Amino acid sequence: MTKIVVRGGRRLGGRVAVGGSKNAGLPLLFAALLTPERCTIRGLPRVADILTTLHLLQKIGCLVGDDAFEAIMVEARDLTSAEAPYELVKTMRASFLTLGPLVARTGYGRVATPGGCAIGSRPVDIHLAGLERLGATIRQAHGYVEAEAPRLRGARITLDFPSVGATENLMMAATLADGVTEIENAACEPEIEDLAAALVKMGARVAGAGSTLVTVEGVRELGAFDHTVIPDRIEAGTLLIAGAITGGDVTVDGARAEHLDALLAKLEEAGVGVERGVGAVGVRAGACRRATDVRTAPHPGFPTDLQAQFMALMTTAEGRSMITETIFENRFMHVQELVRMGADIRVDGKTALVRGVPRLSGAPVMATDLRASVCLVLAALAAQNTSEIARVYHLDRGYERLEAKLSSLGADVERVRG
Ligand code: EPZ
Repeated sequence: MTKIVVRGGRRLGGRVAVGGSKNAGLPLLFAALLTPERCTIRGLPRVADILTTLHLLQKIGCLVGDDAFEAIMVEARDLTSAEAPYELVKTMRASFLTLGPLVARTGYGRVATPGGCAIGSRPVDIHLAGLERLGATIRQAHGYVEAEAPRLRGARITLDFPSVGATENLMMAATLADGVTEIENAACEPEIEDLAAALVKMGARVAGAGSTLVTVEGVRELGAFDHTVIPDRIEAGTLLIAGAITGGDVTVDGARAEHLDALLAKLEEAGVGVERGVGAVGVRAGACRRATDVRTAPHPGFPTDLQAQFMALMTTAEGRSMITETIFENRFMHVQELVRMGADIRVDGKTALVRGVPRLSGAPVMATDLRASVCLVLAALAAQNTSEIARVYHLDRGYERLEAKLSSLGADVERVRG
C-alpha cells in the first residue's frame, strides 16, 4: 500500500506556487456540456477528481483533449449518453453537476444518486427542488435521478441552505432556461464567481455571483469559452498552515489573500505573522502559537475544507481551542488519528475541544478523506520522529505533487510504494 512518510521537526521556509482550484475546475468542466462548441480550461490541477470528470465527460460523448495539462479542451458536440453512471458518481459526488447542464441543453439527464460519504450524509434535495422550480420533472428510482423538461423556465428559487453544488447546478441550468431565474440564499464561494465568469464568456447573462442573490437571464444557446481557473484557496491555505505549524517562513505564490480572509484572520489571532502581497500570501511563524477558536461557515466564513488543517495547527498551540464544524456532520474523522500522534482532543457533537500539547509524536496513521489526510501530513511535519500516512489515495483526489511542494520548502517527506 502506498504511504506518505514524513520525518518531522523541520522548519519550512521559502516560496511555493499554488495550483489551480479543483473545486472551481470541476464545475467549469461540466459547464462545457452547455454548448456544442469546444471549450478550453487552463490551469487545472492534475488530481484524481479532475481525471474522473474527464473520464465521465468522455463517457457522455464529449471529445476531450489536453495540451500536457496546460489546457484541457472539452467539446460536447455529439453527446452519446445523458447519464452519469453509479461507478463514477460513487467515487466523486461532484458528478451530480452533470444534471443541470444536461437537462438544460438536451431536455433530459440521468445521474446516479450520490450516497452518503465519509464526511456526512450530503443529500441532493436542494439541487432537485431547484430543478423542479425550473420546471423539470424529477423521477427517482433504482438509485438514479432523472430530470426531464423540453425547456426549463426561469423561476425564483430560495435555497434552504447556501449549497455550493446546488448553486452551481442551478446557475448552469438557468443559463438556457426561458426567462429570468433568481437564486436567493445562493452560496458566495469564489468558485461560484469563477463559474459565472466562464458562463458569461459563453454568452450567458449571469449577475450577482459571489453574493447571496444570483440572477440569470436565459438565452437560446451558448458558445465556447477559454478560461483560466482561479488558484486553489484550500491548497494555498494548507501550505500556509504547513509553514505556521513548523514555525516557518513560507510564501505561497499565486494565492489570493481576498479568498483566504477568514483563515488569515484566524492565523493572526493565533499569533502567526501574515503578509498579504499582490499575487502572493506569506506566513512568518514563531515557535509559539495561541489557542484560537474556529467555527466553520459558508463563505465568507471559515471554510470547512480548512477545518482539519487548522485543528492540526491548534494541537500544539498554547491553551484550549474550540473547533466547531457546522457544514458537515461527520467531519472529525481526523481527530482520533491526531490523538494517536499525541494530541489532546475531545469531541462533543459539533465541537472539538483541543488542548495544546508541547509536541506531537510521529505515528502510523490512516487517512479517511481528502482534508483529513492532509491534516495528518501537516501534523506529521511538526511531530517528533517519523509518521506514516496510509490510504493516500484520498490525498491524491485534491492535492497535486504535495510531497514535491513540501520538499521544496525543506520538509522531509516522501511517497513510498509498498
Ligand atoms: C462543495 O461541496 C465542495 N466540493 C466541498 O469540498 C466543500 O466542503 C463544500 O462545498 C462546502 O464548502 C466541491 O466543490 C466539488 P454543499 P458540496 O452542497 O457542493 C448540505 C473538498 O474537500 N446539502 O455546499 O457538495 C450538505 O449535506 C470538498 O474539496 C443538503 O442538505 O457542498 C452539507 O451539509 C469536500 N442538500 C451542506 O449542505 C443538498 O441538496 C453543504 O454542502 C446539498 C447540500
